Order: sequence, then C-alpha cells, then structure tokens
Amino acid sequence: MSGVLKQGIENDRPKINAKTAIAKKVDSLLAIMTLEEKVGQMNLYNGFWDSTGPAPKEGNAKTKYEHLQKGWVGAMLNVRGVASVRKIQKIAVEETRLGIPLLFGYDVIHGYKTISPIPLAEAASWDMAAIEKSARVAAIEASAAGINWTFAPMVDISRDARWGRVMEGAGEDPYYGSHVAVARVQGFQGTDLTLPNTIAACAKHFAAYGFVEAGRDYNTVSIGNETLYNTVLPPFKAAVDSDIKTVMNAFNDLNGVTATGDQFLQRDVLKNAWGFNGFVVSDWASVTEIIYWGQAKDKAEAAVLAANAGCDMDMEGHVYIEQLANMIKADKVKEALLDDAVRRILTVKYELGLFDNPYRYCNEQLEKEQIGSVEHHAAALDMAKKSIVLLKNETKLLPLKKKGQKIALIGQLAADKNSPLGNWRLAADDDTAISVLEGLQNHTNSNSLTYTKGVDVFMGKTNFVTEVTVNETDATGIKDAVKAAKNADVVIMVLGEHGYQSGEARSRTELDLPGLQQEMLEAVYKVNKNIVLVLNNGRPLALPWAEKHIPTIVEAWQLGTQTGNAVAQVLYGDYNPSGKLPVTFPRSVGQVPLYYNYKMTGRSTNNEGNVFWSHYIDEKNTPLFPFGHGLSYTTFKYDNLTIDKKSVSVDDSIKVSVTLTNTGNYDGSEVAQLYIRDVVGSLVRPVKELKGFELVHLKKGESKTVQFTLGKKELGFYNNKGEYLVEPGDFEIMVGGSSETVLKSRFVLD
Ligand code: BGC
Repeated sequence: MSGVLKQGIENDRPKINAKTAIAKKVDSLLAIMTLEEKVGQMNLYNGFWDSTGPAPKEGNAKTKYEHLQKGWVGAMLNVRGVASVRKIQKIAVEETRLGIPLLFGYDVIHGYKTISPIPLAEAASWDMAAIEKSARVAAIEASAAGINWTFAPMVDISRDARWGRVMEGAGEDPYYGSHVAVARVQGFQGTDLTLPNTIAACAKHFAAYGFVEAGRDYNTVSIGNETLYNTVLPPFKAAVDSDIKTVMNAFNDLNGVTATGDQFLQRDVLKNAWGFNGFVVSDWASVTEIIYWGQAKDKAEAAVLAANAGCDMDMEGHVYIEQLANMIKADKVKEALLDDAVRRILTVKYELGLFDNPYRYCNEQLEKEQIGSVEHHAAALDMAKKSIVLLKNETKLLPLKKKGQKIALIGQLAADKNSPLGNWRLAADDDTAISVLEGLQNHTNSNSLTYTKGVDVFMGKTNFVTEVTVNETDATGIKDAVKAAKNADVVIMVLGEHGYQSGEARSRTELDLPGLQQEMLEAVYKVNKNIVLVLNNGRPLALPWAEKHIPTIVEAWQLGTQTGNAVAQVLYGDYNPSGKLPVTFPRSVGQVPLYYNYKMTGRSTNNEGNVFWSHYIDEKNTPLFPFGHGLSYTTFKYDNLTIDKKSVSVDDSIKVSVTLTNTGNYDGSEVAQLYIRDVVGSLVRPVKELKGFELVHLKKGESKTVQFTLGKKELGFYNNKGEYLVEPGDFEIMVGGSSETVLKSRFVLD
C-alpha cells in the first residue's frame, strides 16, 4: 500500500469506524424487527392532524395515528415546529414496541421562514460559497423547527422554460448543475450530520423529470442514453459523491418505465454502479401512480414493482404499508431486499444521531432564537443581490443617480409582498417579503419616487395549491401608468410572473409577460423611453420586443424575503450586479428547448444559400440572452489566453490561463467561463460544454490571471452504455464572460 493511500485511510479511520459501528447497531435492530415493523420503516406519512391537539377519532387521520402507535411509520412530512415534532416523536419513541425515532421531512427548498431567492435565481450567482451558505441558513432554521430532512436540492437539469419547475433547479447545464448540487448538499448536511443544525438532504427527482414532454409537468419522458448519461445523471452523481443521504425518485416515466418502478435507475445505476448507500424515497404517492400509468394493475403489483426496483420508502402512497408484508409472504419481493431498504433508512436515522437523542431537533429556545434571525436576513439579502442579472444597460440608465431624479415606479408586482417569496415558501408567512417599492423607499436618497400600480395583473389571493387568476381584459390601469411615466426622468417597471406561476404544476405554453403587462410596457415606452425593466420570473421569458426597445433590463427573479432591498441596492449601484444566466432565454416559445450546448447537425449553416438547413423560416436560431450572460456596471476584458501544452496525454492535464482586467469605472465581479469542444467524437459532441468557471472580484483597473485545469474529468463523456470515455483528438477551448465567448485556442489529446 502506498504511503499516500495509507495516510488517506488513516485519516478516514474515524469515519470508517463510525460507519462500522452504525452498521452493527442497524443489524442488531433489524434482527429483532417483525415484518410489519420493517415495512413500517418504509412508510412516510403526510402530517395528519393538528398535531398539538388531541388524537384524531376517525377516518384517515385515525388510521395514521394508530399506525404511528404500532411502529408502522418510519417518517413524517409536513409536521413542523418543535411542539408538533416533539409530540409525534414521543409516540414513536415511547409508545411503539421498539421506539425507533421518526424522520421529519419538509420541502425546505429556498429557505425555511427566511426565504432566499428561488433556486434558479441563486444559481445565477455562480457563487458556490453563497449558495452553500443559503442552504446552511435554511438547514439551521428548519432544524430549529424540528425538521431533520429536507426534500432538496432539486438537481433536475431542464432545457424547457415551459416547465414550471425550472425555478427549482440550477438551470440547463450538467457541469454547472453538479457544482450547485454539491454546494447545496454541503450546505444542508454540513460536515457533521449529528449536529443539531444539520439535516439530511435529498437529491430529486430521479431521473429525467426536467425532460417532461412539451414542458408539461408530470408528463412522459423519452430521451436517449446520450442525454441521460451526459446531461441528466451528472448532478445526481455529484450529489451521491458528496455523500447525500437520500434520493427521491420521480413522477415521470423514462422511456416507458415509471421512474418509481425503474430498477435500472434505482438499483443498477444509483445503488450498484454509484455505490449510493442512503435510501430512495418515492415522490408524493408516486408508487400509487404506477397504477395510473398503467404499469401495475393494482396496489399489490405497484408495491412489488417499486420495492423490487429499489424504492425504499413510500411517500403518502399507503401502498407499502397495505401491501408489502403480504407480497413478501407471497415471495413476490425477497425479504433480503426489504432488509436492504430498512437498513438504509435506519442507517440515516443513526447517522443523524436520532437514536442517541430523538429530540435532538426539538429545542424551543433555539427555535425562538434562530428562525428569522438578523443574520439570516443578512444572508438572504446577500444571496438576493448576488442573484440579480443585469441583462441590458445600453443607455447607462443604471446605476440610478443618488439625487435629483424623478422616478416613476410602475407595476403591481413592484408593491407585492407575497409574490417575491416565490413558490416553495411553505413555512413563510404571507406578505413578508420586502417589496421593491419598500426597498426603494428604505434606500436613503433624495430622489422623488412615485408609485403607480398601472394595470391589474393578478387578481385575488393565490396560494400553493391554487391557480393564479390573471386579468386579460381590463386595461384601465394603463392610462395611470402612462400619466406617471410622462413626468419622470426614469421609469422603473416591475413586470413578470407571479411567484405562483412557476413551480410544480405551473407549466406554461407562453413565455411572455402575463396579462396586459406587455401592452402597458409599450404604452409607457411611447411617452418615456428611459425605462428600467425589472423582471420577476421563475423561468426564462421570451421578450423580444423588450430586448429590442427597452434600454435597461434587470433580471430579478423572485428573490425572497429581502427582494426589495436587494433590488434597490443594485439599482442604486451600491451593489454592482454580477449574476449570469444559468439558463438560455429564448426569442420565442417555438425555439424551446433551446440551450447553449446543442449539437452540430449535418446542416447547421446555410452555406449553400438555399433553404435546406436546420433553421426556422420565421425566427433566428440564436437566443435572446445566452447562457452565462450577465453585465456589470463596469466592463471586463479578457486577453492572453494561453495553454501550457499544445498536446497532452490522456492521463495528464492541461492548464489554461487568461488575463482578466476590470476596464471600467467601478469595482466589480465577473464570472470567467471556460468551454471546450471535443471536435471529433465517437458520438456527436456538443458545440461547446462548460468545463470551468471562476467568480473573480476586481477593483477598477485591476487585472488577474485566471487559471483552469482540464483533465480526464473534464475532457471525456459517457457513451450509450454509460461507460466514460476520454477520446484522443482535437479540442477547442473558449474563454469569456458568457457562452458566447471571445477567446479561442486548441490542443490535441493523444
Ligand atoms: C414534489 C416533491 C416534493 C413532494 C413533497 C411532490 O409533489 O414533486 O418535489 O418534495 O411533493 O412535498
């Protein structure tokens, strides 16, 4: 054994010892469990009654309560708050035969009570430390409320802006998405899972949920292996490699097999090939839905299919608890598989330290102190500023002057305190975001600010389970907007989608501004061209008119609790925007799916000048705003692209460096991006693939050398059998501030 290897093992010794000790405890516990108790561990129930009140007397709630008392429940979701968690945990620990503690899961997706930007917005920061911190803060708050397991991060790659859940992920790129996945897992789980402020994370939705046909949620997925291995799976693999404890399967089918019943995905790839030793939880009732998909005729068949496929826990499907014991007795599912599932679940419970102290997450004092603390608000503000992307600033309307400007703020969303919280903010109180109006008012300046709602966009109150009602007919508010704009030096228009127009089950067929907002924008433009358009949205929008006419466009997504303060600081130049798009913005819905790492076709250019090439007759192929795009109030120059070798062997690596200079008048941050192209491959390779990025802060006039390393990990790809290949041949390198890079070089891999 080499010295280094030995040293590595020695360093890992405490971890290895702890793992062995846990494995022993799990085995002894397993040995005394009845079949029903084992199946019980695989059963996850949704919160079922006002858990601080008396036990339920009838119906579904009564059944769940009784199951809880029998030890037939392994975990709960949507039970939160120390008092509730403690009460239910007490039943599991004190009333059941074995006293096995429960897991308490919750969708802590972008914050718990202090809401951070939607995950897509956070991904626009390209700041892994900030993203990790945001997840850390979420874990601290959630754990203080009794939660020990989050159903996050969502690591689904999606190229389809119509799909509402684009807001929940890190965008379209597998390399970038993998980095964000790791940052989030580390943020939630920390370095020591037994600490009372770290929680188990869950990579979801395994797999290919982001590829639902036509962007319609819960729809079918048909993709080839090349996409599966190279685009869909890498962020999951990255999460597994960073020791994520759980994985959630998905609502969709993949090439005809329901993901929940997919043995290839869950057993062959995840557990066997990747060595994942946490557990797989189903999505909400997705075991039952196997029946609706028509892959099982009844609950018994669904249970058999899912359990054999490697789905370890049934979320609110009631299928395992009703069927699995009988199916084991009938030998339709081997008891060894059941044991494997239970072992995985118990292991996570041990790793969280729940057997040492089942009430580890139940501390009223912490609950009071931690949730919504000043520091958490500061972190949310920091994350929100970093998530903003300056898409266009042609006439330098931004930053706003600190005084002497008459500003007209227009748009219903500008004063909205709810929509900026985004979609997954279940534990946040309604109307707790700082609106853009409040943010601008809070911001000390001597400008005159007037606010006009303009046209009504969203009608009535909306919540997590209802559809947003949009005003499509009453345009009366437009004239107020026009009037306000006429007398202003600068018009700030806050337009876009409501926070509940993206997210689960919020697919759209249009990517425009909902309702009459576009009409209002054009009417205002007629009287005042000095418009700063501040966009609120949970997905890429296709706004070709705005891109052509409006001089200044700021992508402000849904930025959470601190929205208004973040927007104000960016508009006034107190924070110089540094975000870059993690998704491509299309010109029209018809281009979707549109993404930067597309493949060359046999007919990608119109060399012949004739019609027979891969294009549209009514729209360009190019995006409205490309992946990686984002401006700053300063400017950056890239030059001196150098590579340390012109040819490199497969086992070696190559160093790429570039000089980045802040050539403008403000200090600022830039995300330097490196893309490669594998020019000839045994499979068709994308025209470019992100393989390095660095967020660099530069004072005005300052220069820095940015260095990237490319080795096996960056230069290979998966073939259709899932084997990783690094093929000799020519590679192009492209470096710059977006996927439309400026500098190029090449080298040979031999
Ligand atoms: C979603 C999951 C979520 C689960 C529990 C499902 O509808 O697809 O992402 O974790 O509900 O709330």
